[in-house]
Amino acid sequence: MTTTTREIHLASRPQGRPTSEDFRLVETTLPDLADGQVLVRNTVMSVDPYMRGRMNDVKSYVPPFQIDAPLDGGAVGEVVESTSPDVPVGATVQHMLGWREHALLPAGDVRVLDTALAPASAYLGALGMPGLTAYVGLTRVAALAEGETLFVSGAAGAVGSMVGQLGRRLGAAKVVGSAGSAAKVAWLTDDLGFDAAFDYHEGPVLRQLAPHAPVDVFFDNVGADHLEAALVHMADFGRIAMCGAIADYDATTPPPGPRFLTMAVTKRLKIEGFIVTDHGDAAGEFYRTVGPWLAAGEITYRETYTDGIEQAVEAFLGLGTGANIGKMLVRL
Ligand SMILES: NC(=O)c1ccc[n+]([C@@H]2O[C@H](COP(=O)([O-])OP(=O)(O)OC[C@H]3O[C@@H](n4cnc5c(N)ncnc54)[C@H](OP(=O)(O)O)[C@@H]3O)[C@@H](O)[C@H]2O)c1
Repeated sequence: MTTTTREIHLASRPQGRPTSEDFRLVETTLPDLADGQVLVRNTVMSVDPYMRGRMNDVKSYVPPFQIDAPLDGGAVGEVVESTSPDVPVGATVQHMLGWREHALLPAGDVRVLDTALAPASAYLGALGMPGLTAYVGLTRVAALAEGETLFVSGAAGAVGSMVGQLGRRLGAAKVVGSAGSAAKVAWLTDDLGFDAAFDYHEGPVLRQLAPHAPVDVFFDNVGADHLEAALVHMADFGRIAMCGAIADYDATTPPPGPRFLTMAVTKRLKIEGFIVTDHGDAAGEFYRTVGPWLAAGEITYRETYTDGIEQAVEAFLGLGTGANIGKMLVRL
């Protein structure tokens, strides 16, 4: 049975901050299923900051999106047709053909989800790629040790909110976060157990971080002024896990390097960038460790939704303006 569906295409490569004109909603008809395929009615799709990089025509760790072709990314949904004995109709699955209402793909490219452990959407956030990013950044990259002070930028986002909570459970003595609004700061301190948090709009990060120094581990999602401030306030032998630099993603010219970099020498810092997809082998350990914490409510998460494929671009653009608390998702 052919299916008519809708998907979002990249219409043009954004110059600087993307606008809705850089995208196009397209109706398309999917062919009949070949052997071993499944048709998924996507129910929730993810928008993620890394997608901004894929809109540029540059070589990176993941290939660029193509003009006039659908975007892709994480999504979950329900199998509505299947020609595979492995994935039955009715299964809830996760896959990488988001940005569309239906996904037609080989059964081998979907993962059947355990929705008894957590709702499907959690596999796009706390129990998915962002959660795993937080976990490997803390355990493998920064090697957070018991009793240490942890500072995380972008703390109220999908990754950052997990960093703070996991850091606490992994033994951090003090957890400090920065975020972009009073409501986010309140969520961090009142609900997630951060010891302190500040709104980076309220004054220079350099000044606001000072009372919480020295920082043993800095988990950086933002870069720019946050990275500069952390360099100044790191402890000797501190570690910086460079996860992202969202403050620079829309830059049209190369941003200047951080000031205070020589602090890396004087303080004997270790600064290491990482990409979560290099750490797929940590996924099993991550689910075994974090799954029960989540199921027991010892770790909590929030999701911010927009509704409908028509709002998917809006959701993506909202990442750049801080419109999300927790994971930004689109209900399809
Ligand atoms: N290395 C990896 O493998 C990996 C994997 C996943 C994610 N990441 C990176 O991790 C970071 C967080 O990703 P996420 O999925 O969890 O996104 P997110 O934090 O849920 O959403 C993005 C947030 O960034 C903040 N932001 C936007 N522009 C900013 C700016 N100019 N200065 C400071 N904050 C800004 C906004 O919050 P505020 O209101 O606080 O400004 C926004 O809510 C990103 O840098 C992403 O690229 C890396």
